[in-house]
This record gives sequence, C-alpha cells and structure tokens, in this order.
Amino acid sequence: MSNLERSGWQTIKSLAKYLWPKDRKELQPFVVFSLLSLVIAKAVNVTVPFLLKASIDSLSGSKIELPFIVLLPASLVISYGAARILASIFGELRDFLFIRVAQNAQRKIALETFSHLHNLSLDFHLSRQTGGISRVIDRGTKGVNFVLTFATFNILPTLIEIILVTGIVYYHFNFTFSLIMFGTIFIYIALTLFVTEWRMKFRKAMNKEETEANSKAIDSLLNYETVKYFSNEQHEKDRYDRSLQRYEQASIQSQFGLSLLNTVQAAVIGLGLMAIMMLTAAGVESHQYTVGDFVLVNTFLIQLYLPLNFLGFVYREIKNSLVDMEKMFELQNVFPSVSDAANAPEMNLLNTEVVFQNVNFSYQPERAILKNVNFKVPSGKTLAIVGPSGSGKSTIARLIFRFYDPQSGIISLGGVSIKDVTQSSLRLKLGMVPQDTVLFNDTIGYNIGYGNPKAGQADIERVAKLAQIHHFIELLPLKYNTQVGERGLKLSGGEKQRVAIARTLLKNPSIFVFDEATSALDSHTEKEIQKSLKEISKNVTTIVIAHRLSTIVDADEIIVLKNGEIVEQGTHHDLILRDQVYAELWSKQKLEQEETGPRHL
Ligand SMILES: Nc1ncnc2c1ncn2[C@@H]1O[C@H](COP(=O)(O)OP(=O)(O)O)[C@@H](O)[C@H]1O
Ligand SMILES: [Mg+2]
Repeated sequence: MSNLERSGWQTIKSLAKYLWPKDRKELQPFVVFSLLSLVIAKAVNVTVPFLLKASIDSLSGSKIELPFIVLLPASLVISYGAARILASIFGELRDFLFIRVAQNAQRKIALETFSHLHNLSLDFHLSRQTGGISRVIDRGTKGVNFVLTFATFNILPTLIEIILVTGIVYYHFNFTFSLIMFGTIFIYIALTLFVTEWRMKFRKAMNKEETEANSKAIDSLLNYETVKYFSNEQHEKDRYDRSLQRYEQASIQSQFGLSLLNTVQAAVIGLGLMAIMMLTAAGVESHQYTVGDFVLVNTFLIQLYLPLNFLGFVYREIKNSLVDMEKMFELQNVFPSVSDAANAPEMNLLNTEVVFQNVNFSYQPERAILKNVNFKVPSGKTLAIVGPSGSGKSTIARLIFRFYDPQSGIISLGGVSIKDVTQSSLRLKLGMVPQDTVLFNDTIGYNIGYGNPKAGQADIERVAKLAQIHHFIELLPLKYNTQVGERGLKLSGGEKQRVAIARTLLKNPSIFVFDEATSALDSHTEKEIQKSLKEISKNVTTIVIAHRLSTIVDADEIIVLKNGEIVEQGTHHDLILRDQVYAELWSKQKLEQEETGPRHL
C-alpha cells in the first residue's frame, strides 16, 4: 500500500466515529432512519426491472412469472411507476436525513482545525499564508462531508446491489448471463480505478496551483498600497498569471483524462449490454425467454451501470477529498512550539513582580537576539526599555507573553515561572499595546470592545476618553459604528494606536506592556495620553518600550538595550549622571527636538 493509501485509510477510519455521533444522541436516530431508507430504496429498486418485465409480458400475452400476484397489465404498469417513484423518494429521504450527521461532522472538524490554528505558535503564523490555509480548511471540510456521505450511501450499497443482481440474474437466467454481467461491471470498475489513479496527479497539480494562485492574489491585494508605491501592478499581474497558467495547464490535462475515462466507461458498458442482449435475443427467438426477459436484463444492467457511472465519479471525488483532507489533517499535525506543561495550573498572581533571570533567546540558532538579560520590575513599578531599533525590545515583550520560550533563563510573574502555568491564564493577566496595531475589519466600537467582550457602551466610551480618541470618534458620521477597514487600514497610525490603548485599558490587566505605543502620535496628544496612562498605571506593574526618551523620564527604572544586551540600568537621573549611552541618546534627542520642533505626524 502506498503512503497516500495508508493515510487515506486512516483518514476514513478517523471519520467513522462521526457516523455515530456519541456526544449528540439526538442525531443517532437520523443515522438509523437514513440507513433504513437506504435499504428500502435498494429493495424497491431491485423489484423495478421485474415489474417492467411483468408488464411487458402481460401485454405480449406471455405468462406472468410472479406467482404471488395475478395482476392486470394496467396495475402492473402502475406498480412499476409507483416503485420507481418510491425508490427515488427513499433515496432522497436517505440524503435528507443524513445531511445533519454529515454537516455535524464537517462543522466539528472545521472548528477543531480552526482552534488548532489558534493554538499554534506565533512562529507558525509568521511564516504561513493565510489565503492558502483558509482554502485548505475549506476544501478539507467539504471533503469530510463528501467522503462520509458517499462512502456510506454510495460505494457500499452499490457493491451490495451488484452482488444481489448478479445472484438474481444467475437464478433467473444462467451462469453465462451472470458471468457477462459481473465481468462487465468488474472490467468497468477496474478501468475506472486505473484511469482515475493516473489522473490523480493532474488533480493534485490543480489543487496546488489553485492554492498558490489564491495566496498570491490575496497577498498582493493586502499589499495594495505597497504595490502602488512601486508601480508594480504589471509585476503582480505577471506573477499571478504564471500561477494561473500552470493551473490552466493542469486542468486541461485533467479534463483530457476525464474524457478518456468517460469514453472507456461507455465502451465497456456498451459492449457488455450488446453481448448480454444478443444472448437474450437468441433465447427469445427459441422461445426460451420472453420479450420481458429481454427488457429485464437490459434494465438490470442499466440500473447497475447508472450508480456505477456515479461510482467512478465518487471514487475520484473521494480520492480527491482524501488528498484535501490529508492536507487539512497535516495542519492539525503541526505541533505548537510553545505548549502548556501537562496539568499546568492557571496563573494566580499574589503580586505582579516581573523578573527576567539570565534570559538567552534566539529566533534562529545562528543568531542570538537576547543575551543574558536580567531585570526585575517590582509590583506596581514602571520599567522602561530603550535602545536602538533591532536591539530586542519587542522580543522581550513577546517573551513575557510566552509567544516563544527562551533557550535558557527564567521569566517569572509574581514569583511563578510563566512556563509552569497555562498560556491563556497568563495572557489574561497581561495587557499589551503592540508596536504595530492591526485591527479587525469591523467597527471602531467592536475593536475597542474586544478588550473585554462583556463591556458595555459606557465602558467603551470611558476607555476611549482615557485614550484620547473619544473626541475623534464623536466627529465621525457613524461614530462608534464606523468601519475601520481590513487590518484597520482606514485609520491613521496614531488613531490605530489609540484604539489599541483603549482596548487594552478595557481589558484592565494586572500588568501593562506598551511597545512604542505612542510613537505615531503628535507630542500634544502623546502628552495627554501619558497623563491618563500615568494615572491608570500608578499602581500597576508597567513595562514601557519607548523610542522617545521624554516619555519615560519618570520611570522607576530604565534599561538600555543594545544588541540584545543590557548596557545600562538605572533611573533617568542616574543614567544622565553616568553620562554614557543613555545620556548621549538623551542629548541627541533634545537637540533634534529643538531643531525640528514638536513632531506632528
Ligand atoms: N520572528 C522572527 N524571526 C527571526 N528574527 C526575528 C523575528 N522577529 C524579530 N526578529 C529579529 O530580532 C531582532 C530584534 O527584534 P525586535 O525585538 O523586534 O527589535 P526592537 O528592539 O526594534 O523591538 C531584529 O533584528 C529582528 O530582525
Ligand atoms: Mg520593536
């Protein structure tokens, strides 16, 4: 068995549990009744050819071979019609009853994948392609539905029907008949599987190119502004078109395979029908069989061939679905690089002291980012981190949130190592205003309220006032219902920062982390916000990463980071007296400010 087949079987097996949903007992009767409908539909279906034969024979004056009923031609015809209708009705009923079960499975799997994606670590999400992933989930979950429905209600029943009909034909006619019928079907199935197998690689290529084209399109549209800045529309079009061309090529090959398959299938059935009908025709001439028998074999073979025609399609789709699902399950098999310790308790803060103890960290092994970082922020105090861009300031913030684990050293909150508690309880205690704020594509009110989904409008307005954005929002025609656009792009950098501050205030965390949270604001607004923040963070442990030193002169302690190392540490006053790195930065910034005046962005 190839790898794909093995994982395919595993996928089917893992789906089986959804056929009998244990946790949703109310769905179980639906499974039973849809199976019942299936049996009834099949049973009625097998009588249809006999009723047709009986009708024809009674019309042509032959004796009717249904010993238990003596019927007139008209009632036979009526029964024939009724049987056909009944078979369809029960077929539809079966699908209608089962859809709940299949949809339940689809929903559960989609939800599992989605929450798994949220559990994966930041490093996975920084290197993913959102468009590609959403398509994988989309196709994968549709595949679940398909496989469940068709494996249960198509493949199995059709195989049973084949055996049943072969038996009936053997009983009613003779061995040669059943051999031809079975042989035709067998060759049909074998050829279908063979050609389908061969076609799979085109389908895979199609999927791959489609995903790629989609990722490219989405990424390109997300970067709309960048594309315009560089006038690179043509470049983007070419890139997208190259993907589309490969998709086009793959789908042409795929269609060629499909047409070939359909032709081969038609030829096999045609030849089989011809052979078996010639035999019957000879039997009718020699009065061994009736005209009804001639129609009977024809109807049987056609009735078998119809779902089989479907079987080819179903097999193809199931294999495709397995490919799609495999992709999705692959995602589920990516393990988070940061995970909760087994039976980790919730974080329960006795105090909010933050301690970094000999922390060493690198994103990639080749390049150390933080080197032996040590600091302590006592409960209720404010620590400021300053240093050139790229020195590792934001990395410190990410480590506190445990987006990554340091290679060595301990980070603790209130005396507890953050590795020993659950990540979600840890993050519940922390409030972060990140360097680059990205907003949800919803209203301003929604984005502020995100800090605490239970908060009411009054609370939202209170924090908006503290973050100096209430006034701005009131000026908007739709006020708090204003849409912010994808990633919040309809707001200016400063407005986004204020929304981010407001929603963090709403969360009311025990520890604040501000990562250059006011860097995009003009100095007047910045001062106003600083006032509010100082008030709010008076007794709350706060870590401020700052670009402009004027905002942190009051911090209880300042650390200066350079190339991932703490090079200076102390209060503003201490560091000025020291007259080294910090003092130099300070006088440089003061000079700049005098030259350019207050910044207005
Ligand atoms: N996910 C990442 N993978 C690899 N390198 C990263 C990643 N994130 C940041 N870096 C690198 O780590 C260094 C420190 O980044 P950062 O902490 O954001 O600096 P800053 O002091 O400007 O906030 C930078 O050189 C940056 O390129
Ligand atoms: Mg940074």
